[in-house]
Amino acid sequence: VNGAKNDALKVLPASFLFKDELTIKNIPHISDIDAMSKLITELGAVVKRDDRTFVVNTENGNSKPFPHHIAKQMRSSSVLMGPILARFGEVSFPHPGGCVLGARPIDLFVNSFEKMGAECTEDGEYYHLSTKGEKLKGADIFLDIASVGATETIMMAAVLAEGTTYIRNAAMEPEIQNLATFLAACGAKIEGIGSPTLRIEGGPLLSSSGNEYSVIPDRLEAGSFAILGALAAKELTITNCNPDHLRALLSVLDKVGVDFSLDADKIVVRGGDRYTATSIRTHEYPGIATDIQAPLTVLLTQAEGESLVHEIMFEGRLHYTEDLIRMGADIMMLDSHRVLVRGPSKLSGKEMDGPDLRAGLAYVIAGIIAKGTSTIHNAHLIDRGYECVADRFSALGATISRISE
Ligand code: EPU
Repeated sequence: VNGAKNDALKVLPASFLFKDELTIKNIPHISDIDAMSKLITELGAVVKRDDRTFVVNTENGNSKPFPHHIAKQMRSSSVLMGPILARFGEVSFPHPGGCVLGARPIDLFVNSFEKMGAECTEDGEYYHLSTKGEKLKGADIFLDIASVGATETIMMAAVLAEGTTYIRNAAMEPEIQNLATFLAACGAKIEGIGSPTLRIEGGPLLSSSGNEYSVIPDRLEAGSFAILGALAAKELTITNCNPDHLRALLSVLDKVGVDFSLDADKIVVRGGDRYTATSIRTHEYPGIATDIQAPLTVLLTQAEGESLVHEIMFEGRLHYTEDLIRMGADIMMLDSHRVLVRGPSKLSGKEMDGPDLRAGLAYVIAGIIAKGTSTIHNAHLIDRGYECVADRFSALGATISRISE
């Protein structure tokens, strides 16, 4: 398992909180990282890359508007807002892009920064946030939704703000905890890490003073590999992962009847031929991650009985099931947040357009267990979050090859 995309993507913006250079290890080779690297370089960061280690220096950083074509590529561009606003007193950005999973507004970000003393204007294409030459001020913020991106960007802004910030109903994903713990080790005053209430006392720019950031293993890669193992392997050993970050998924696999065993940094999955249906409901961490919902649904197509899949987070994240239906899955769409899966059903290979990176990987897993050949277009979306999927899966014995970009 490689380093987590959603950890690496947030520590690059965090480099603007530092007065000295920041060394980051275990960064995955995925296209979202290339885009984030380009974005922070446009804002004056100097990024030196050596394989999976990056050294970032933001000494000559600036608050130029985020280039439209890069910011529109990924949702995580929005996380850069907080550090830039807190350090330079202004930030300009277009509405962030990313996977099309639903509306994905940024109201929580803007409202929170307004509470911290910034003014927001909009000119049709760009949002501009400015503190009018003042420092950003600490504030008591309640997030109506435990948003990952909002928690991260507000936490980072609060590290350089004047006074104390509370983030209540904060998201608690392991990637946020890793970032917060590192910032605290470098001098940030953050309390409540891993809980829904963060208390942050602002201060000067941080100093990494020899601390190196280590990106945590990708729990979504690990989880997807476990599902692949359950469906297609006699025995699959998943190394360099943290099973503690996968408790909700492992509980589902257990109910479905998947045979697995755990070590501190390893999962061994032994594939079976009879699985039992179980209903799932996605949730913020530590619940079942929305990002594992699509591969999990593929597993449920092979389980005996009826499983209700309830996606609470995004209203557009079940459309991919239409292609699973074309492959032979028995799935009924109940509404935009719920599908009913009846299994087991035999899947057969089809030609499909991957709608986003997680559903794209679910199609790959479905294609591996299907009879015949599947062709998955939009492979570049899978590259956003998974490194060399075709090579890694073919090394496991799957017949899979990359035929074009
Ligand atoms: N939301 C608002 N207003 C806001 C912000 C969020 O209404 O201002 C809503 C969203 O529309 C969504 C919910 O809050 O319905 C949760 O969204 P959140 O902000 O937590 O998501 P995110 O930060 O945009 C991150 C991951 C996603 C993952 C979600 C949920 C990154 C780069 N992205 O997105 O990952 O699905 O958290 O866990 O960290 C992926 O990696 O494939 C991916 C989509």
